[in-house]
Amino acid sequence: MHEFDAATQAIADEVFELLRELVALDPTPLNGTIKPNEVAALARPMINETGNDPAAVLELFTSVLAPAVIRADSPRFLAWIPSAPTKASMLFDAVVSLASISGVSWIESAGAVWAENEALRFIADLAGMPEGAGGTFVQGGSAANLSALAVARDTGRRRLGDNRRRVRFAITVDTHSSVRNTMHLLDVAPLLVPLVDDRLTGGALAEALDSCDDPASVCAVVANAGSTNAGLVDDLAGIARICDDRNLWMHVDAAYGGGALLAPSARGQFAGIERSDSLVIDPHKWLYAPLDCAALLYRDPSLARSVHGQHAAYLDSVNEQTGGWNPGDYAYQLTRRARGLPFWFSLAVHGADAYRDAVEHVLEITRGAAERIRGLPHLELLREPELSVVLFRRIGWDAVQYAAWSDQLMRDHEALVVPTRWHDETVARLAFLHPGTTLEIVDEILATTH
Ligand SMILES: Cc1ncc(COP(=O)(O)O)c(C=O)c1O
Repeated sequence: MHEFDAATQAIADEVFELLRELVALDPTPLNGTIKPNEVAALARPMINETGNDPAAVLELFTSVLAPAVIRADSPRFLAWIPSAPTKASMLFDAVVSLASISGVSWIESAGAVWAENEALRFIADLAGMPEGAGGTFVQGGSAANLSALAVARDTGRRRLGDNRRRVRFAITVDTHSSVRNTMHLLDVAPLLVPLVDDRLTGGALAEALDSCDDPASVCAVVANAGSTNAGLVDDLAGIARICDDRNLWMHVDAAYGGGALLAPSARGQFAGIERSDSLVIDPHKWLYAPLDCAALLYRDPSLARSVHGQHAAYLDSVNEQTGGWNPGDYAYQLTRRARGLPFWFSLAVHGADAYRDAVEHVLEITRGAAERIRGLPHLELLREPELSVVLFRRIGWDAVQYAAWSDQLMRDHEALVVPTRWHDETVARLAFLHPGTTLEIVDEILATTH
């Protein structure tokens, strides 16, 4: 299995051919989902004692399994948070797979870590974080939030002089679900701060802290820089001021919204992000990298090292080596795919201006979609979009009708659009990220709401 012989050459030829076909898809088809019993009927089990003809396994993949996967990088994928990797980043992802990089430490992966750190520095500069900021790439926003908030909790406990104290984080109802899961895992309680015009403000935070019992137990604030449901950015400058005054850790979850830091038309919304103690931005969302890739940055990486650094006899060689950067020290994982490299490669090839243009274009499409909705009497725009999410009401529809509409769009392979809830009402939601999504696609979708 490990030699490159004639049989391997045959597999390589088939796989390279498939890679050529996949990378040439333009636009990427949406495909559809199928039910578990349908896939079971179409696919025959492949795993046995003696193996199969590689061509037969590939044929099953291309004819049954791949079409049963909705492609998050289709310009018609407008649900949840889409993904839209550049072709260059996808190609380089294949290279990373073939390069067998274990991105734990400088000793074993110096070249990869150097390049990933260049990409992290690019993101830190977008946010305006100080020179000393640093971190690592992890699997996704959830993993990044967990790693960052473990550091926030332990730093808070240290300040309180009690390493077992149950501390609290200030959050809102719009804090991402992964942060709630993180708080459960870390045994951290919430201080729920009321929203002001659908966002967390410094004023509301101060009031909540002043009126809560035991404000000293609140050690961190989790702010949104792009809420997932509505694409809204919290009052980061106001929050930063309160965090400074009260010595609180400021964590900014920009997993989705962070890509908009590139766009001059949106950058002003992020004022204050440069003061975050920890920051999460997912290149696999709006920075056009392939799944899965989240950037995790700390203002003071030494605090993260003190929480996540792993110590064992067999790791002494890693920990005693000086001068290098060990990504394993900045998140809870050890073995790590060098998942920042596809992003680095694509950014190096295309340059930041191309990314800036793509993000601006998506913002324009979003504004255009809002305009279209405003022009249709049976639809109601619920908020002016600030990033790339549009929420609207189809007047007269209930939750069942929204669900039926969404199902039909998916069955027709027209678009993936799923409803959400907004102020306790079921509504329609369009999330834009792909620069290839056009207003013609939006018109086709809106035409199905009549
Ligand atoms: C604001 C925000 N935070 C965190 C996450 C979780 O990221 P992931 O799905 O990469 O784990 C998401 C996902 O959409 C998000 O939008």
